[in-house]
Amino acid sequence: MADTPNPHGLNEAFGNKATPLPLFDRWLAQATESEPNDPTAFALATVDAAGQPNVRMLLLKGMSEDGLVFYTNMNSRKADELRANPKASMCFHWKSLRRQVRVSGCVKPVSDAEADAYFASRDHASQVGAWASLQSSSMERRIEFDQRVTEYCAKYPEGSAVPRPPHWTGWSLQPSEIEFWLNADARLHERLVYTAQVDGSWRQTLLYP
Ligand SMILES: Cc1cc2nc3c(=O)[nH]c(=O)nc-3n(C[C@H](O)[C@H](O)[C@H](O)COP(=O)(O)O)c2cc1C
Repeated sequence: MADTPNPHGLNEAFGNKATPLPLFDRWLAQATESEPNDPTAFALATVDAAGQPNVRMLLLKGMSEDGLVFYTNMNSRKADELRANPKASMCFHWKSLRRQVRVSGCVKPVSDAEADAYFASRDHASQVGAWASLQSSSMERRIEFDQRVTEYCAKYPEGSAVPRPPHWTGWSLQPSEIEFWLNADARLHERLVYTAQVDGSWRQTLLYP
């Protein structure tokens, strides 16, 4: 185990009836210390109307008992898919820690107040970019997008308050299952799954690696 940081072996967590979120929180905090960039990055899997899965990277922007929150364009492919089928899975992989967390559940849009507050915290360039990008739509040439950025920069100059675009908001994924995966030598890894129960408690299951 020489090169594997393992301060929180999953066997310790097994049998402890706490909810999975504090463990997730601890792993995320450790990843924030050790990852070279984007410790909150995760892959989000959605499924289209034909049953075709689609996966792409996003950034986690909030976490509470209500769910794990990410932000995006509501005209994007992922948003179309989530409106039609509000089930999704997230996969976090922290290479520096050799850990993985999978989260699955149902999504719902966050409140306007929550989205407004997060949008207001973004830097000006990102705010303008959210107005300018027709995310997931095709364009003839890159200059179309550059022109839209220039237009919105003129409309909302640096220093002015930029309103949140109506097509841009957050989604909250309420976990029904969370799996923690911890690397071990010789591929004898540890896996611990938390499954949400109807009474609000969590059932724990250990899995073979
Ligand atoms: C590390 C990383 C983080 C990203 N974070 C976001 C994000 O938070 N929100 C977002 O809409 N797109 C984000 N993207 C871009 C998405 O991966 C994707 O290209 C975009 O959302 C369009 O996806 P869609 O066509 O499936 O809707 C990120 C990409 C990378 C590589």
